[in-house]
Amino acid sequence: MDSIVIKGNGPVNGQIPIAGAKNACLTLMPATLLSEEPLTLTNAPRLSDIKTMAELLASLGTEVAGLQDGTVQALGTKEITNHVAHYDIVRKMRASNLVLGPMLARMGHAVVSLPGGCAIGARPMDIHTDALEQMGATIELKDGYLHAKTNGGLKGAMIKLRFASVGATENILMAATLAKGTTVIDNAAKEPEIVDLAECLRKMGAQIEGEGTSRIEIQGVDRLHGATHPVVTDRIELGTYMLAPAIAGGEVELLGGRRNLLEAFCDKLEEADISVTETAKGLLVKNKGSRVKAVNVKTEIFPGFPTDLQAQMMALLCTAEGTSVLEETIFENRFMHAPELTRMGANIEVSGGMATVTGVDQLKGAPVMATDLRASVSMILAGLAAEGETVVSRVYHLDRGYEKVVRKFSGIGAQIERITT
Ligand code: UD1
Repeated sequence: MDSIVIKGNGPVNGQIPIAGAKNACLTLMPATLLSEEPLTLTNAPRLSDIKTMAELLASLGTEVAGLQDGTVQALGTKEITNHVAHYDIVRKMRASNLVLGPMLARMGHAVVSLPGGCAIGARPMDIHTDALEQMGATIELKDGYLHAKTNGGLKGAMIKLRFASVGATENILMAATLAKGTTVIDNAAKEPEIVDLAECLRKMGAQIEGEGTSRIEIQGVDRLHGATHPVVTDRIELGTYMLAPAIAGGEVELLGGRRNLLEAFCDKLEEADISVTETAKGLLVKNKGSRVKAVNVKTEIFPGFPTDLQAQMMALLCTAEGTSVLEETIFENRFMHAPELTRMGANIEVSGGMATVTGVDQLKGAPVMATDLRASVSMILAGLAAEGETVVSRVYHLDRGYEKVVRKFSGIGAQIERITT
């Protein structure tokens, strides 16, 4: 099994190109199920999660091209030939549930495995199913699978989400494009990936207003057509690499980065005494040379501080001057990285959804392992600042969400390699 070995060796400097967003691509890909015509996505990231989604779509009848060549994907679904999203694929990746809305809208029936729990929490689908039921679907849970059908197609509805779930907003948005009449999603998620999906659907002929606000209105149309769409920049990859100079020292320009993708995160970095400047090509992040300051962080829905950057921010705060409190409000079990960072000499106390981190003078390299994608990369970041060698195992988590991770870190001067043991 592969591991990543990092040797802390001082400041990092240079440029890193930021890829298209994994989470946007994972919702744009199922949009192909809404039309008989091809959907082409450019700026797609090369990641194992994208391959998993391609595999799922292929199992439903989608022709997938371009995955081998890299960042352009051509997807065409002339006909949905199978209406079952099997557990074998869905259990690997929760985002597989994003085929439910489009399949139901196009075919009037779908059988989708429930994903089950994952390392960071229970992750139910009640918000998705309640909304689709309000749109006229009948949904039953049998043998771990959601069996969904409609009687004559989905109908527009006024839907108020009990929580601004990203996935539920995406599923309903896609389903509503082909429903009869108007759908309003109240308390909708506002994440940039949702705006990107709405923009793509509009290119496909959908009538959507209000994406990026908490009220999205969709006027159903009879059919959607093909389109070409560039995937939005990955704000989580962006934030992750912004933390490299913050924790190791130095100055790094993140190519393609934009502050409005990560406003709350940039504010926290500045509060910690890291400089963030917009440049013509992206964002420039500079460690001013002094030790970072402790800051309190609370994860929130967009535009708040993203839960997907909490683990990486914790790595930085392990080295800060003073005590920081991190509060996780989105997932109930998202501090699995804390005991691993503690093995590297960090001082962290976790109590429920709060972690109290008292910065230490020096982290120490250690063998560590991660239970999820963002936790894995937080250990690489900690390894950049640690004395000695850090070995991060279970690298398959990283392959899900960070393309060319070793090349990108070594491009800014980090001593990092992937080894097979
Ligand atoms: C998406 C992202 C994930 C990110 C998360 C929150 C993708 C592929 N994944 O996940 O990286 O961490 O947003 O920003 O885009 N919930 C329910 N019932 C539901 C749905 C969700 O209780 O029906 C709860 C979840 O258990 C969780 C919270 O709502 O506690 C947030 O989930 P949600 O916004 O749906 O996240 P995902 O779309 O799964």
